[in-house]
Amino acid sequence: MSETVCPTPVSLLLAPMQGLCDPVMRDLLTRIGGYDGCVSEFVRITHTVHGRAAWLRHVPELAHANRTPAGTPCAVQLLGSDPDMMAQNACEAVRFGAEHIDLNFGCPAPTVNKHQGGAVLLKEPERIHGIVRSVRQALPAHIVLTAKMRLGYENTDLALDNAAAIAAGGASLLTVHARTKVQGYTPPADWLWLRRIREHVNIPVAANGDVFTLDDYRAIRETSGCTHIMLGRGAVMRPDLARQIRRFEQKQAADAAVFGDEVLQWIRDFVELCVQHEPQGKYAAARLKQWLGMMKHAYPEAQTLFERIRKQSDTDAIRRTLANAVF
Ligand SMILES: Cc1cc2nc3c(=O)[nH]c(=O)nc-3n(C[C@H](O)[C@H](O)[C@H](O)COP(=O)(O)O)c2cc1C
Repeated sequence: MSETVCPTPVSLLLAPMQGLCDPVMRDLLTRIGGYDGCVSEFVRITHTVHGRAAWLRHVPELAHANRTPAGTPCAVQLLGSDPDMMAQNACEAVRFGAEHIDLNFGCPAPTVNKHQGGAVLLKEPERIHGIVRSVRQALPAHIVLTAKMRLGYENTDLALDNAAAIAAGGASLLTVHARTKVQGYTPPADWLWLRRIREHVNIPVAANGDVFTLDDYRAIRETSGCTHIMLGRGAVMRPDLARQIRRFEQKQAADAAVFGDEVLQWIRDFVELCVQHEPQGKYAAARLKQWLGMMKHAYPEAQTLFERIRKQSDTDAIRRTLANAVF
């Protein structure tokens, strides 16, 4: 995931987030910068092998040397439980351009878990091991294989076993979202577990969970000891969070963006990227409202802007509101 030259020993990763960090959001956030890699939303693997159109729809980066327009590498995340189908689909993704496959062992969604996918697998480390091993054995050696897990399903009893199973299966990096499935997104994430897991396995661990500010980043680094950090919701709330961290690591002033011209320009760019992605319908309006709804946690002004566009669904009306916005 960190194939690009990283001027510091830290690797910053943009988290996979279904319905939130889609190709448009990945494009925008990696343009703003600071990321060494990103991960696609999960692709569900059941009883079929996806064809070219499906792979390119889920991960359009595949058609562009596996990178976002800013040049940031993008991993393809698979979610499923059948080792053979996971392996076959991983190989198909590679056939259409993937260079890095990531496996999801953390999704808490009830429908996904009911079909034996995501976090429910954390109850069975042997099954997780079998899936990772099957995919690793099927993939060409130069293709990167990584995995992402939570600390467990109901409790953390199997956290170390699951992490060890993933490492023994042949993954080269493990991202850990420091919560169990039943903890959902309730704060705080348990960063101490990241250290325990990092000390237990022989592959790098990427620390994930509740990094919303530069101070959170410093704290998770210190508590976990990890040098790979994955940013999720914080990356969407503060679009320049990775850039701030990168500047901090390079001993420059972090220069956090204020809600003024620069942030407004990102918002305008986002709308145009949405329109390019899906010219018809209300996609741009829906995505912008979703984004402002998250950004208001970092910037009170985002709430004001949200109120102004709340009743608008027409893209031109939104463009006018944004063109006239002054903060
Ligand atoms: C809306 C949403 C969708 C998510 N989708 C995925 C996903 O597709 N694959 C995955 O591994 N994790 C997914 N996650 C989990 C995040 O990648 C991340 O582990 C979690 O949000 C904790 O990190 P954070 O506190 O930095 O947000 C999702 C999280 C959110 C909020």
